[in-house]
Amino acid sequence: MFDRTEGMIRLGEVALLFELARDLEDGCIVEVGSYRGRSAAALACGALAGSRQPVFAVEPHEEFRGVHGGKFGPEDRAAFYRAMLETGCYRNVRLVNVSSEVVTPGWSRPVGLLFLDGDHTWEGVRRDFRCWEPHLVAGARLALDDTDDPDLGPRRLADELVSSGAWARLREVGKITVLARS
Ligand SMILES: C[S@@+](CC[C@H](N)C(=O)[O-])C[C@H]1O[C@@H](n2cnc3c(N)ncnc32)[C@H](O)[C@@H]1O
Repeated sequence: MFDRTEGMIRLGEVALLFELARDLEDGCIVEVGSYRGRSAAALACGALAGSRQPVFAVEPHEEFRGVHGGKFGPEDRAAFYRAMLETGCYRNVRLVNVSSEVVTPGWSRPVGLLFLDGDHTWEGVRRDFRCWEPHLVAGARLALDDTDDPDLGPRRLADELVSSGAWARLREVGKITVLARS
């Protein structure tokens, strides 16, 4: 049976997202894949402690099967709302309840921190990155979850971006790799 905490980031990763959001110098924060709100809350708390940037949580909350077999769906939206209310993070988390390709063509806000934790297939993570790439500021940070598995899309994306020379590897904490745009 799928343990619901398996879909969420762990303590060290929470601290990492908090720091990245707190120390952000330019642009807003976009998270792709919010599930029940744990990582969104970490980003929001960090932002409230420093950068004061809003967190846009891009998450359709539709039926979805993860690469590790986890089942996600509309009930997670209720848990997300509860988490936002219980933590007070509704103050700077803005739920965007559709996929990136729906929202990015009309997007106008520069993005300083992009956290990708949605569809971890190569096609999925590449699609999400390409959607947001035109909106990233110079020096933007890209955090990718699940980069510990060489067979999954996030690791391949991180490796390809670093090989291209356009991005540099900054930090690795748990399953998350952070890149900085050169
Ligand atoms: C591993 S969970 C995210 C966990 C969350 N970041 C946390 O740590 O609390 C993956 C989520 O990605 C979502 N997802 C799937 N396809 C997506 C897409 N195209 N855009 C955004 N989110 C997507 C799923 O609905 C699921 O809630």
